[in-house]
Amino acid sequence: MKQFKLNINTKTQKYPIIIGRGLLNNIPKLLKNNSLYFTKCLIVIDNKIKKKIILRILKKFNKKNIITFLFNANEKNKNQKNVDKILAVLLKNNFQRNDCLISVGGGITGDVSGFASSIYKRGINFVNIPTTLLAQVDSSIGGKTGINTSFGKNLIGSFYQPKLVISDIDFLKTLPKREIVCGYAEIFKHSLIFEEKFFSFLDKNANKIINLKSPFIEKSIIKSCEIKKKIVELDEKEKSLRKILNFGHTFAHAYESSLNYSKRLNHGEAVLLGIYSAISFSLKFKLLSKLNYLKIKDHFIKYKLPNKINNYFLKKDLKRLIYFMKKDKKNTSNLINLILIKKIGITKLNLNFNEKVLNKFFIEELNN
Ligand SMILES: NC(=O)c1ccc[n+]([C@@H]2O[C@H](COP(=O)([O-])OP(=O)(O)OC[C@H]3O[C@@H](n4cnc5c(N)ncnc54)[C@H](O)[C@@H]3O)[C@@H](O)[C@H]2O)c1
Repeated sequence: MKQFKLNINTKTQKYPIIIGRGLLNNIPKLLKNNSLYFTKCLIVIDNKIKKKIILRILKKFNKKNIITFLFNANEKNKNQKNVDKILAVLLKNNFQRNDCLISVGGGITGDVSGFASSIYKRGINFVNIPTTLLAQVDSSIGGKTGINTSFGKNLIGSFYQPKLVISDIDFLKTLPKREIVCGYAEIFKHSLIFEEKFFSFLDKNANKIINLKSPFIEKSIIKSCEIKKKIVELDEKEKSLRKILNFGHTFAHAYESSLNYSKRLNHGEAVLLGIYSAISFSLKFKLLSKLNYLKIKDHFIKYKLPNKINNYFLKKDLKRLIYFMKKDKKNTSNLINLILIKKIGITKLNLNFNEKVLNKFFIEELNN
């Protein structure tokens, strides 16, 4: 595959996403080719990246200029304490604004590093090198950074665009299958909210994508990035349109938070459950036709994607689920704001429901 370059043009920053294979072998060259010059560089690396790959990445850097920080990426560590640790390294080594922080990892490493970059001296150069499918198709694009607190997920954060994104598909070779499915969740979401033709492609080829077969994996990564690019360019700060990217996520964040970010349900799996809840809710509220609902449901069944909330929750958990839904960032009142779907490719924004409606919905879903 030759390198593919996608330029993101938001109001605050223009930057390229470079997608390809073998890119990790010469990152300093890619930085220079994209006019990124700095004296010092802190590389925050997910500690599950294989040592030999880390060594391959570091080999081309000038050893005198770089500091590495190994990060144990999980939702419990996506917190202020780890942001503070990164800030302490930057401060101790007197990094200047025109120095650079590079994240090499999945969505968690990227969100934590991006947030630290945005607040260090009010903003240091940030480069994102996503190593999971989820991060390559979603979290590395669009500049959302953030951390979790005991009150809920991603409630503290910033909009801070990277200077460059380098997406090397070869990273995915070491990614567990379970994590590939999590990335697939966001690809699937992009098709549902934006393009029926892409959904039809996924409906035919999901197994090939999940098994990383060429050219299906490349096509779905590029298409997903293109969809996200269109959305974030039109609405960088999520005033309106960008909210559609939260499709399924109001449910998903409540599922993850309620289980206290247990390994039983990781982020992408929660997103799949959340998408399923959102299509069921859309059907119940007569927004989505039965035909479209069944088409989407069939995709879940055919590819064995998680869809049963009663595998994770009981009636006694409802209060906690609703507590977290009420903490969602999109809410503007005491009501719960949901992104629903009218038809594959078309969503409906700004619908608000009270907790009684949600309670009834969950009871029916749990009895299913
Ligand atoms: N900023 C955004 O716009 C945005 C969008 C979507 C999701 N997110 C956030 O992203 C996070 C989920 O991201 P994720 O699914 O990438 O999770 P993650 O960063 O936890 O990575 C998943 C797992 O894969 C491991 N890993 C990473 N790269 C690997 C590789 N190449 N080989 C082997 N193992 C590897 C990690 O250590 C981790 O165990 C969530 O916290 C979510 O809120 C952010």
